[in-house]
Amino acid sequence: MSGSKRCLIAGNWKMNGLLSEAEEFIAELRENPAPEHVELALMPPFTLLHPMNRPLADKGVTLGAQNVYYEEKGAFTGSICPRMLRDANCHYVILGHSERRSIIGESNAQIRSKLNAAWLHGLEPILCIGETLEQREKGITNHVLAEQLAILKGAPKDKPLTVAYEPVWAIGTGKTATPEMVVETHAFVHEELKRLGKDCRVLYGGSVNPGNAKELMACEGVEGALVGGASLKADSFMQIVEAAAETAG
Ligand code: PGA
Repeated sequence: MSGSKRCLIAGNWKMNGLLSEAEEFIAELRENPAPEHVELALMPPFTLLHPMNRPLADKGVTLGAQNVYYEEKGAFTGSICPRMLRDANCHYVILGHSERRSIIGESNAQIRSKLNAAWLHGLEPILCIGETLEQREKGITNHVLAEQLAILKGAPKDKPLTVAYEPVWAIGTGKTATPEMVVETHAFVHEELKRLGKDCRVLYGGSVNPGNAKELMACEGVEGALVGGASLKADSFMQIVEAAAETAG
């Protein structure tokens, strides 16, 4: 299944999840009805892609990865290439997550190479962008986001893309942007994407949970969520999906 619905709830498991936990998650997921207007996706760690592929597909959940390397194959110890992700039936790949930008030191140039490699092999990147608290307080949020989106300059127009706006200060902190902030920033991101010829879906991310999902998903310009912590348990993930279904319907 691939991104045919406009509203997407994507779970980014980060460096969490053992096989036993994945099995438990899937068993719980099976008890929930599939939503009508919302696409579900999960990005478990690489080790769980193959075992989760079939059971998730049966439930209509799209599979994705959290990262990819841009080379085709060969002597790149520890790396995973786009063909391997396709082989595991991945449709999505998260690129430019703030944890990779700040902890691993990934640059915009590297992210651009990964975008190209993902597109070459038919993957849909979920490109993450976001400002730090310091940048927001300095009033340079839009400038930072424009710079992160500038890697899309000259990118092919017909390739699939989803963007996730995730304020860095809201990731894993329990803090969320106010609805006003979300509406304003999403409007800017949509405008900038149009200017770059990439009129694509934009998700919100950063401490999305069952308690705030409805308010966040109702914000103008928000077409789903990239969910970290709250996607690790099937019940909280599905509560977010339900909240999105109410606003997407
Ligand atoms: P969080 O993570 O929901 O745990 O804040 C979101 C993300 O990093 O994509």
